[in-house]
Amino acid sequence: MHLLVLCLLSVWGLAAPEHYAVEDICTAKPRHIPVNPICIYRNPEKKPQEGEGQEPAKDKLPESTNPRVWELSKANSRFAVVFYKYLADSKDNGQNIFMSPLSISTAFAMTKLGACGSTLQQLMEVFRFDTISEKTSDQIHFFFAKLNCRLYKKANKSSELVSANRLFGEKSLVFNETYQNISEIVYGAKLWPLNFKEKPELSRQIINEWVANKTEKRITEVIPEGGIDDLTVLVLVNTIYFKGHWKSQFPAPNTKLDIFHKANGETCQVPTMYQESKFRYAFIPQDKVQVLELPYKGDDITMLLVLPSAGTPLEEVERELTSEKLQGWIDSMKEMSLFVYLPRFRVEDSFSVKEKLRKMGLEDLFSPENARLPGIIAEGRTDLYVSEAFHKAFLEVNEEGSEASAATAVTISGRSFPMNRKIFNANRPFLLFIREAALNTIIFMGRIADPCS
Ligand SMILES: *[C@@H]1O[C@H](CO)[C@@H](O)[C@H](O)[C@H]1NC(C)=O
Ligand SMILES: *[C@@H]1O[C@H](CO)[C@@H](O)[C@H](O)[C@H]1NC(C)=O
Ligand SMILES: *[C@@H]1O[C@H](CO)[C@@H](O)[C@H](O)[C@H]1NC(C)=O
Ligand SMILES: *[C@@H]1O[C@H](CO)[C@@H](O)[C@H](O)[C@H]1NC(C)=O
Repeated sequence: MHLLVLCLLSVWGLAAPEHYAVEDICTAKPRHIPVNPICIYRNPEKKPQEGEGQEPAKDKLPESTNPRVWELSKANSRFAVVFYKYLADSKDNGQNIFMSPLSISTAFAMTKLGACGSTLQQLMEVFRFDTISEKTSDQIHFFFAKLNCRLYKKANKSSELVSANRLFGEKSLVFNETYQNISEIVYGAKLWPLNFKEKPELSRQIINEWVANKTEKRITEVIPEGGIDDLTVLVLVNTIYFKGHWKSQFPAPNTKLDIFHKANGETCQVPTMYQESKFRYAFIPQDKVQVLELPYKGDDITMLLVLPSAGTPLEEVERELTSEKLQGWIDSMKEMSLFVYLPRFRVEDSFSVKEKLRKMGLEDLFSPENARLPGIIAEGRTDLYVSEAFHKAFLEVNEEGSEASAATAVTISGRSFPMNRKIFNANRPFLLFIREAALNTIIFMGRIADPCS
C-alpha cells in the first residue's frame, strides 16, 4: 500500500524570495514537450467540437490569450465556486474562509497525468476538466503551465505572484521517468528522494523546511504531525503566493475603529480603512449584492468584493452563487466614484481538502482499493493512492494592499456618512476573490465573516 500526500498551500502577502523559472515552458509549444498522459478519458455524452466551448456567444476571448488557457481558466472557476460551497458547508457561518482554488486544481491536475479508469474519470468530472475541449484536457499540464506563465508575467513588478512546486518521493521506489520529466518541465523542480520508510518524521521536517524556505519562514508546519508515515511514497507540494499593492491606497490616517456586524448578530470592533475614489462597482438588486473591484498596481490582478445588502445573510448569497452569476456581476460593473469602507484584517486558513473532494465525487483517487495511478510509479504497480491533501492559505489586507508598517494610530470615533453618495461599507460578512482580471482566473477566494479575531 502506498500513499501519496498532496500538500497545497497558498500565501498572500509575502515577499518572494525567488522566482519560479518558467522560461522554457512559457515559450514552448505542445509538440516540443512530451506531455501526453498515460490514459485518456472521453465523456461518452459529449460530442465536442474542436475549439468550440459551450459558453454563450457573449463570452469573448480576451486579447492575446490562448483559447485553451482561456477555457481551462473557466473550468477552474467552475470548480472554484462548487468547491467553495462544500467548504462553506463544512464550516460555521461565523468562520472565515480563505483558499486558492487555482493551486488545488493545479496539484490535482498533476495526479490526472498519471491516472486511469474511474480515478481519471472522477478527476475530470470534479475539476470540470470534462467541460473543455479534448485537446486541452489531454494536455492539461501544459496549459496549466501556460496559465501560470500568463499570471506571473502579468503580475506587475509592484505585485508579486510566485509559485513553488515540488514532488518528494520515497527513495527506494522507482518513479515513472516520463512522469518525473513532465513534473520537472511543468513544476520546474526535480523530484527530491526522501527516506519516508525509515524516517517519516525527518522527511516531514525536510518538506516543511523547504516550504518555510520558499515562503521566507512565514509558513511552517504545512504538513501536520503524523501527516507522513512509513507508507508514504510521494508528496506533492504546490504553493502559490501573491503580494500586491493597491493601485489606490487607503490613506492611513483614515483608518478608524468601527463596528463589524457578524453573522450571529454579535458585533466586534475592527480597524476600518476608508477612501473615496473611482472604482468599478455594481449594485445588483435582484441578487441583493453590491460588487466592488479594487485593482492592484498594474491593473491585471484585482480584489473583487461581494457584499450582501444589509439584512441579507451572506449564506443566502453563497447558496445561489455560480461561476456564471459571478461573471454576470463582473460584467455589469461600471466605474464610478465611491466611498469605500473596508476592514483591515488577516486570515489564515488550513484544512484537508480530501473530505470535501470526496463529497464532490472524487472517491477512487483516495481509495487504497480503487485508485489507479499507473503513470506515476514505474513497474506497473497499482497500489498507489492519495492519502491526504493539505491546503493552507493566508491573506492580509491593509492600507497599502499588503503588510503595512503598522504605525497607524487607531482611534475610536463615530463616522458620519456623507449624504447622497454611493457607499460600499464592508461592515458585515462579505466574499472576496483575488483574480486575474482579463482571464477571470480565480487565484484566491474566501469569505470574511469575522475580521476582528
Ligand atoms: C527524461 O529526461 C532525461 C533528461 O532530460 C532524458 O535523458 C530522458 O530520456 C527522459 N526520459 C523520458 C522517458 O522522457
Ligand atoms: C533551507 O535554507 C537553509 C539556509 O539557506 C538551507 O541550509 C537548508 O538546506 C534549506 N532547507 C531545505 C529543506 O531546502
Ligand atoms: C507597473 O506598475 C508601475 C508602478 O505603479 C507602473 O508605472 C507601470 O506602468 C506598470 N506596468 C505595467 C506593465 O502595467
Ligand atoms: C511511464 O509512463 C508512460 C506514459 O506516461 C508509459 O508510456 C510508460 O510505459 C511508463 N513507464 C514505466 C516504466 O512504467
